[in-house]
This record gives sequence, C-alpha cells and structure tokens, in this order.
Amino acid sequence: MVRETQVAVADLIYPLFVSERIASRTPVTSMPGVFQFTVEEAVAEAQAAWGEGIQSVLLFGIPAEKDALAQQAYAADGIVQRAVRAIKQAVPQMIVITDVCLCEYMSHGHCGIAHIEGEHVRVLNDESLELLARAAVSHAAAGADVVAPSDMMDGRVAALREALEAAGFQNTAILSYAAKFASAFYGPFRDAADSAPQAGDRRSYQMDPANALEALREVALDIEESADMVMVKPGLAYLDILWRVKERFEMPTAVYHVSGEYAMVKAAAANGWLDERAATLEVLLAFKRAGADLIITYAARDAARWLRDG
Ligand code: PBG
Repeated sequence: MVRETQVAVADLIYPLFVSERIASRTPVTSMPGVFQFTVEEAVAEAQAAWGEGIQSVLLFGIPAEKDALAQQAYAADGIVQRAVRAIKQAVPQMIVITDVCLCEYMSHGHCGIAHIEGEHVRVLNDESLELLARAAVSHAAAGADVVAPSDMMDGRVAALREALEAAGFQNTAILSYAAKFASAFYGPFRDAADSAPQAGDRRSYQMDPANALEALREVALDIEESADMVMVKPGLAYLDILWRVKERFEMPTAVYHVSGEYAMVKAAAANGWLDERAATLEVLLAFKRAGADLIITYAARDAARWLRDG
C-alpha cells in the first residue's frame, strides 16, 4: 500500500542479437538463456516478448563480413537493417531501438575508425562520426523508432541528429549511451556480439569508473546535442550516477543491466547460491528506485513472467 517503487513490464527493453553467421539460434555460453538469432528467429522472439507485454527491443547485429570501415554497419541490407524491417512488419507497434556502434562491424573491434600499431590504438573521433551517422540513418530508413549510439565518440549525438533531420527522419528519437563507463562487466557481451577489440582497450573513449562529475558533464553535453533520452551503463555498480543523472536532468533515463551483471546472477543461481528470481527482481527494483524510467535487461522475458505471476 505504501510501496514507493514499482517495476512494470512496460519499463523493460529486451536486447536481441541478430547474426548473419548462423543457420539457427546459437546459445551465448557466458549468458545462459541468451541467444544469437537469425532474422526470422528474432522476429519470433520479438513476437513472443510482445505477447508477454514487452514493448521494446534493442537490436545488435553480427555481420558475416567485417572490415576497417565497418561497411555492414550502414549497408541498406545489413543484418540490423533487415531485422528492423522484419520486426516492424510482424509487430508494428513494437518500439524498435537499434544500437549504433561500429565495434561489431570493424575488423579490429573498436567503436570507431582506428589506427593500430601493436598494442597502441588511436581512435579517430571526428572521422568516425560520419560512419555512425550513416548507420543511424540506415536504421531509421529501415523503420527504427529510436537509435541508441553506444560508441562514446564526442559529438556523435549532434552528428546523428543533423544527419537524421537532413534525411527526413525528424521523428526518430535518440537514446544516448550518455554515461558509459569502461567496464569489466561487458565481458560476456563481447562473446555475444563478437566485438572484443583485437588490440588495446576502450579506455580512450569510454569513461573512467572513478569519475562521477565527468559523467554529469557527458550527460549534459548529450542533452545539449539533443538527446531525447539518456542512459547510464552499467547499472548495479553505478546506481549513484543513475540517481544523480535523474535528479539533475529530469530526462527520460534508461539504465543498462549489462551482460556481466546478468551472468553473475545466472552463475550463482546455477550453483544454488542465489535465488535467481528474487535477486533479479530486487536488482530491477533498485534501478527504478535509483531513478531509471527504462531498464535494458537480458532478463526481460523472465522478469515479465515473474512480474505477471506475482
Ligand atoms: C557496443 C556495446 C557494448 C555493450 C553495448 N553496446 C560493448 C562494449 O562497449 O564493449 C555492452 C552491453 C553489455 O555488456 O550487456 N559498443
């Protein structure tokens, strides 16, 4: 009766991995319950999720071919572009969000154009913006409702907005991965999306976990550049950032319950060390209490069932 916080199924965003390299769904070993799907299977999964009350999916693509210009990231018939079209056709009301990044499409696995000499990596920020903008426009053209840049290049929100407007996609919203930290908790995702950097790491463009004020500056910049929604990522180890972002900016705020956070609970539950249902629902509740409006989680379908069954 006096409960202050509620998690609703409508708050959940369900990430889907769509791959061009597989003939049928393939489990992601480090994320039990998560699969790489073909386009057809992704449509079926989106339909099933919709039937359970989930209103939104977030798409990641694994292309057959990678190169140094991430060409499949902005190809009109790329894997994500095809998946968007197919899902929008089958479930028109599903809010389809696309991850806009180059790491899954680059032969070297970095989020932008990169010069690599041994372990030394230099990512070219401004040169990468054009490719990211092309990817976003190609997603919008395929029917994406929201594009979500996760690359962490400076100036990408403005670049995406400008390119979307120029192409006539005024109504495509931008969900910015505004405060995205260089985190060990992304480990399992890089197996799922086959996007681990071949050399170096992402610390030159993702944020230092020690910096909260810098996170607020990053969020302010993205809002100034016209982000419609902002995200904090990862979630659990960054609830303080989530709280401060929501309090300060009062924007629609999303949190990413990332792969490593999901894998920890799954592993402990498999050993009988944690109650998976109780632990997962407690984490989702904590995100809401800390200010999240939207929660991106691999546990979306389980959570929808648990929330429904009470
Ligand atoms: C792409 C991207 C990553 C995640 C979302 N988009 C990986 C990374 O930055 O290395 C991580 C999601 C997760 O761990 O669940 N840049």
